Amino acid sequence: MLTKLSTRGIATRLTQVAQKAQPKPQQSTISSESVFAREHKYGAHNYHPLPAALSRGEGVHVWDVEGKRYFDYLSAYSAVNQGHSHPKIIKALVEQAHKLSLTSRAFYSDVLGEYEEYITKLFGFDKVLPMNTGVEGGETACKLARKWGYLRKQIPKNQAKIIFARNNFWGRTLSAISASNDPTSYEGFGPFMPGFDLIDYDNVTALEQALQDPNVCAFMVEPIQGEAGVVVPQDGYLRQVRELCSKHNVLWIADEVQTGLARTGRMLAVDYEQVKPDILILGKALSGGMYPVSAVLCNDEVMLCIKPGEHGSTYGGNPLGCKVAMAALEVLQEEKLAENAFKMGELLRSELATLPKDVVSTVRGKGLLNAIVISSKHDAWDVCLRLKENGLLAKPTHGDIIRFAPPLVINEEQMLESVDIIKKTILSM
Ligand SMILES: Cc1ncc(COP(=O)(O)O)c(C=O)c1O
Repeated sequence: MLTKLSTRGIATRLTQVAQKAQPKPQQSTISSESVFAREHKYGAHNYHPLPAALSRGEGVHVWDVEGKRYFDYLSAYSAVNQGHSHPKIIKALVEQAHKLSLTSRAFYSDVLGEYEEYITKLFGFDKVLPMNTGVEGGETACKLARKWGYLRKQIPKNQAKIIFARNNFWGRTLSAISASNDPTSYEGFGPFMPGFDLIDYDNVTALEQALQDPNVCAFMVEPIQGEAGVVVPQDGYLRQVRELCSKHNVLWIADEVQTGLARTGRMLAVDYEQVKPDILILGKALSGGMYPVSAVLCNDEVMLCIKPGEHGSTYGGNPLGCKVAMAALEVLQEEKLAENAFKMGELLRSELATLPKDVVSTVRGKGLLNAIVISSKHDAWDVCLRLKENGLLAKPTHGDIIRFAPPLVINEEQMLESVDIIKKTILSM
């Protein structure tokens, strides 16, 4: 009887919490100006945000504190692929939060194994190593590759090298900026991680040459370079990367933190060329924007090189994150978001191609990971300010490039409405 009552009590409470979690269409009591001033005064100045103070999100839209509605064309750098406040992901979060949120990996939980089985079967790898942020996924992949290099490839102690592509971006830790050729990322933060080398992106000759070095354990690359401005390599590049890495006994690490999980019109961007990396890094949309969850997937030959105590994270693999990630992955499949991203991406690029070339010199992308290049006569930041005034939020990346990456739940009507905003803005320049 006691158990029955408490179960009913918990269910009622869960419903109340779920209802509370629904966005309320009320305005905030604080003005945008006050939000900007407070963040500026008390927060580090490590970002330069567009002046939009957001307080609510649902699907493809976000609202500012004054109640103005915008299309979200950034999707939190592709973390919100499933749309803001997805009810299924909220439900998973709330239900698990009431049961058990964190155990640390000092103990087992009844959820971690369920998640590990689910994600490894979905992507076809033997094992997963759960982390939290994308950059931790990159760090984990590099550690796995080095360890494999010493244990399996017999690279002499401390001599392992990892090759990266120029203009890569995989985060802000000391390792990640050591792999960067962008002075804004690395200047003033040395000394840097040794054993990292750079070659040109989308250049197989440079890759083949770099792989001649027997101390190279891995090549880490994004299938499409996101932060660099949505740089799409030539068809066949990924297939050649696969072949060259196999030929030279080097691990291929695919950083799909931004391109993965339906964003480019396939579940993974590598699926376009039907190739499989040795190590796959996922993050961002793995939690649908709800909670930081990242994952590194590979087969036993690589994963079992790391032994207890050699790597970990207090929050990595926590039950809350695992439930959220399973719900987020289910949403991608149930709502066929890869197919929708492919279709809506074609529509978006065909519409953007009609824009005057003296303002928009290039349109590129795959699925719903797209960018336009603003001609030198205009300023991308100004374009984004005007887009904001007209009800669409986007952010410049690298000066003259604006990324267009709405949530993948966008429908045709919403796509045409948002494209009208872009057209109107560009024609007013
Ligand atoms: C390709 C890629 N890898 C890794 C990261 C780092 O992810 P996080 O910011 O979650 O650490 C990013 C972030 O933008 C990214 O685009």
